[in-house]
Amino acid sequence: MKKMITTIVAEQAKIGENCWSIWLQAPGIADNVQPGQFVHVKLNQGEKLLPRPLSVSEADRERNALRLIYAVVGKGTKDLSRMKEGESLRILSPLGNGFEIDETASKSLIVGGGMGIPPLLELARRIPGKKEIYLGYSATPFLLEEFEKEDAQTHVSTDDGCYGYCGTVIERMNQDKALGDIIYSCGPRPMLKALSAWAKERKIPAQVSLEERMACGIGACLVCTCKIAMEKEDGWHHRRVCADGPVFWSREVVWND
Ligand SMILES: Cc1cc2nc3c(=O)[nH]c(=O)nc-3n(C[C@H](O)[C@H](O)[C@H](O)COP(=O)(O)OP(=O)(O)OC[C@H]3O[C@@H](n4cnc5c(N)ncnc54)[C@H](O)[C@@H]3O)c2cc1C
Ligand code: FES
Repeated sequence: MKKMITTIVAEQAKIGENCWSIWLQAPGIADNVQPGQFVHVKLNQGEKLLPRPLSVSEADRERNALRLIYAVVGKGTKDLSRMKEGESLRILSPLGNGFEIDETASKSLIVGGGMGIPPLLELARRIPGKKEIYLGYSATPFLLEEFEKEDAQTHVSTDDGCYGYCGTVIERMNQDKALGDIIYSCGPRPMLKALSAWAKERKIPAQVSLEERMACGIGACLVCTCKIAMEKEDGWHHRRVCADGPVFWSREVVWND
């Protein structure tokens, strides 16, 4: 059930070049949230600013807290990065559908790029069985320590070669001849599009988490629609990334829009 709550900042820290981590107290939400779901953050001081969508990176049920990891790109995220422990803001959550975990898969591939990496941390924790994680960064990696604690092989690639493999995450997967029964992914659209083609070639079902600009976050305004081709139906349909997604099967996404 969606809940608007006033929450308190429990911790805020800069964890990378332009990467921030914030823990929010979220009783009644932290224990219900699914990996891939997101939070609409409304900053109290910016009444005219629309809420900003940020994915849940970790949900700590014992502490009733949610962790969001974000890059500062504009006014909303800049204001958020200035918030101090003990200050309050409003959030609407949990929003979106989240990933559908296949408990029967004998091996899962988790593939993330850039600011699409944060929601994959909670996902990696909840996926049972064998898993391999591929993370692609433009430069210095963040959240690596947390991923390396998981019972999985983690492979890192960077565009500039400053850490791990020099190249894209998909080039790294090709080098490793990576294979699995299912793929879960979040990242920039060009990466998701390339991964979708990669998965199709290998007949591996893939779930991708999409990003669109959002306003209401609850399916009412239609700002965030994307084109989805439903199986067994002709043509494409518009779907709302906030309410019908953000996670879709890659075979259903119309990539050439
Ligand atoms: C479901 C969902 C989950 C997200 N999760 C995260 C996350 O975990 N961490 C994170 O850092 N960011 C995430 N984002 C993106 C984040 O919402 C935007 O970066 C944020 O809203 C920007 O707000 P702002 O006021 O700082 O910037 P604005 O002033 O609104 O925009 C600054 C720049 O960022 C671009 N931008 C803004 N929103 C988006 C968007 N949704 N997609 C692509 N470009 C955008 C604008 O075009 C502009 O160039 C997510 C977006 C969605 C839709
Ligand atoms: S943001 Fe309003 S319908 Fe998705």
